[in-house]
This record gives sequence, structure tokens and C-alpha cells, in this order.
Amino acid sequence: MAVQISPSILSADFARLADEAAAVAGVADWLHVDVMDNHFVPNLTLGLPVVESLLRHTTMPVDCHLMITDPDRWAPEYAQAGARNVTIHAEAVRAPVRTLRAIRAAGARAGLAVNPGTAVEPYEDLLSEIDMLLLMTVEPGFGGQHFLDIVLPKLRRARSLVAGHGAAIWLQVDGGVHEQTIERCAEAGADVFVAGSAVFGSDDPAGAVRALRAQAERATVHAAWHRSGLMSLGSYAERTGADAVGSACSPAGGVGSGSSRRTKSLPRMSSSAHSAPTNASPAVT
Ligand code: DX5
Ligand code: ZN
Repeated sequence: MAVQISPSILSADFARLADEAAAVAGVADWLHVDVMDNHFVPNLTLGLPVVESLLRHTTMPVDCHLMITDPDRWAPEYAQAGARNVTIHAEAVRAPVRTLRAIRAAGARAGLAVNPGTAVEPYEDLLSEIDMLLLMTVEPGFGGQHFLDIVLPKLRRARSLVAGHGAAIWLQVDGGVHEQTIERCAEAGADVFVAGSAVFGSDDPAGAVRALRAQAERATVHAAWHRSGLMSLGSYAERTGADAVGSACSPAGGVGSGSSRRTKSLPRMSSSAHSAPTNASPAVT
């Protein structure tokens, strides 16, 4: 699966969301929208009416991350509104099979998120119901927090779990992902990278996306999980005549991917890119 970058608008100017989306359109793969209700997490952002407005003003596929206590009630509505991916939290959902199926039935990809302290193994039986697994690499609620290295072993286990099922499930990381941490995430198994302050805290959001993609792609090429995946696809191809590399590199979900865009330059981040807390973010970790 190709590297995908999903800039989080949590670090954008909420009064200029359409302009902020335009700044990464054609460069990023997704626009990550953090919905917070001040109950599941101690922060309040935006809800369905704002997402509906944003969808009218951007052509980017919208990736909704619902940090709310009642995803069973709300998740299908985000999918019906036109979000191309809707992710719900394992810690909040009460009827995961029904809700994940409702998201898919409404035409969106279904994501399941786990907090840093939540194991993935109890959710193995849900793998057939999801298109993406989101491993939070900070405690959810705020942008600009420090990346939690303790999630990396879980990311490796999640990659093995997904590979063991032969599943085309994307592995997303979210929180503290920037130029100093993205390669560790790619090496451990992530293929979809959410970045808030690293993109919208930069003077050059599009350049930041390109630089993050280039770093992630370089790390992925050398990652053991990726190489072993290619090798098993290779032996499969020998048996069947299938195009192993082509299969391994094509995005599974068919969103307009920026993965064909390449850059060698590493634009400078602004000094605030990794340090400024965003939307009332305390540096709690
Ligand atoms: C945090 C949100 C993230 C946030 C990431 O709970 O889910 O999407 O925007 O921000 P950074 O990349 O600044 O850590
Ligand atoms: Zn998020």
C-alpha cells in the first residue's frame, strides 16, 4: 500500500477552513477532521454542520475522526454527508459491528481507532468489518503533543495481525507525527499518516506534506514488514502470474492519491511547527 498523508485541520485556522484545505489539495491524500465533543476527550471542536459545509467547499476526500461518546448515533451521518472515511473509537462504540456496517453501507470507508493504552488484539474479530485501523500515538484531544514511542510495538503487532489475515486494511497513526517521528512509524508498519501541527503549523503546508511523504516513503522501502510483504506477494506472483509489485503499491481504497507525486526537497518547517499547541492544546504528554 502506498504512503498516504492526511493533514489534520485541528491545527488550521477554523475561520478559514476552505482556504486551509485548498493549501494542501492536490498534494495530500486526505483532509483529516477531528470531531471532539468534550466528553470522550476534554476538548470541543466541530460537528456535523461544519463538516457538511466543509464538504461543499473542498474536493479533498474527508477523513473524519470521531472522538465522541456516541459514535453509534453519529458516525453513519458523517458517512451519509459525504465523508470518505469515518473512524470511530473502540473505547466509545457500543455496537461496533452495526455501526461499522452502517458506515460502509453509507458509502464510506470504516475506521476503528484505539487509544495508546488500548490493545489491538481484542479487536481481531472486527478486522473483516474495517478498512483502516487508527493507532493513536498521543492521548486524543489536542494537537501539538509529544509522540508516544510506547505505541510502536503495538503498531508492529497490528501490522502482523493485518498481514496474518491477508487483509487490505490501512494502518493510520495520529498524534505527534512530524519529521522527527514519521520514519519510526513507517518502519513499524503505518501507511497512513495524520499530521496536524507539522502541516498547518508550517509556513508551507504543501511543502510539509511533500517532505513528510518523501520521508515516509524512504522508510517504508526499507521496512521489514514491507519487504516481507513484497516477498510473499512475489512467491504468490510466481505461482499465479499476478503482478506482485503493482498489487503491493496500488492504494486499496481508490481515493485520489497523491502517492504518485514525488519530491526530493525537504522544505524548512516554521519554528512553531512542532512546538505550538493548537486549539487550546496543553503539552500533557
Ligand atoms: C488529536 C487529534 C489529531 C491531532 C494531531 O487528538 O486526533 O488528529 O490533530 O495533531 P498533531 O499532528 O499536531 O499531533
Ligand atoms: Zn485525529
